[in-house]
Amino acid sequence: MPRIRHAPARPTPRTLVITIDGPAGCGKSTVAKQLAHELGLMYLDTGATYRTLALAALQEDPPVVADARRLAGLARQLPIRLDKTAQGSLRVFLGDDDVSRKIRTEQVTEVAAQISQYPEVRGAMVERQRELANTHGVVVEGRDTGSVVFPHATHKFFLDADPAVRAKRRQEELAKHYGSRTPLALIREQIDLRDGLDRSRVVGPLVCPPGAVVIDTTRLTVTQVVDRMRHILRAPRRARP
Ligand code: DC
Repeated sequence: MPRIRHAPARPTPRTLVITIDGPAGCGKSTVAKQLAHELGLMYLDTGATYRTLALAALQEDPPVVADARRLAGLARQLPIRLDKTAQGSLRVFLGDDDVSRKIRTEQVTEVAAQISQYPEVRGAMVERQRELANTHGVVVEGRDTGSVVFPHATHKFFLDADPAVRAKRRQEELAKHYGSRTPLALIREQIDLRDGLDRSRVVGPLVCPPGAVVIDTTRLTVTQVVDRMRHILRAPRRARP
């Protein structure tokens, strides 16, 4: 395996680390991808790393989904690699297998939500996420990226949106990628469930990290959100306490 350069949890003055946190369906993946593309930075989707671990756990014989210690061991050894397409999309590899689509199934979504609750798993995954971020600058998105993964990030954003709008966006995304017609009520139920899990876990809960700029995306397009972020990034930064 090639040597991975470790990104420091505390960036050097020249390293741009932009964190974007928020609940499921608030638009952070699309926004983070576009912002990273426009700024020529790496894009790190931490949710994809939990999903890849979930897939690897399901591929074990027998599957390992309830043993936190074994899952943490699997996380430390996870042969995950992230690659960017020319369009700025993310390709995720587990070993040589391109698992970009496989990690978006309902089963993987469910298992990722379950295993990301274990503190041991989160500890191991945070280390892996820091390894995956390259030192030249990164846009990283998830639930705890500004609070735990990169608490010293140069810029932090927290996105939120009305749960009904988030459910509708998720439905459209599923229809686009899988042609599926999941009922809106079911998606809303899943979103509420995941919100509950994300906000209530003891380690790495979904929180708005101190110093983050909050953007409500309910009535904004992706371009409007990205423009707002770029405007904030251009503004001179105030001295940190
Ligand atoms: O954003 P997503 O739906 O791809 O995330 C998949 C799962 O991983 C979801 O259940 C939340 C969890 N997750 C997490 O616990 N911490 C993160 N930083 C990112 C995702």
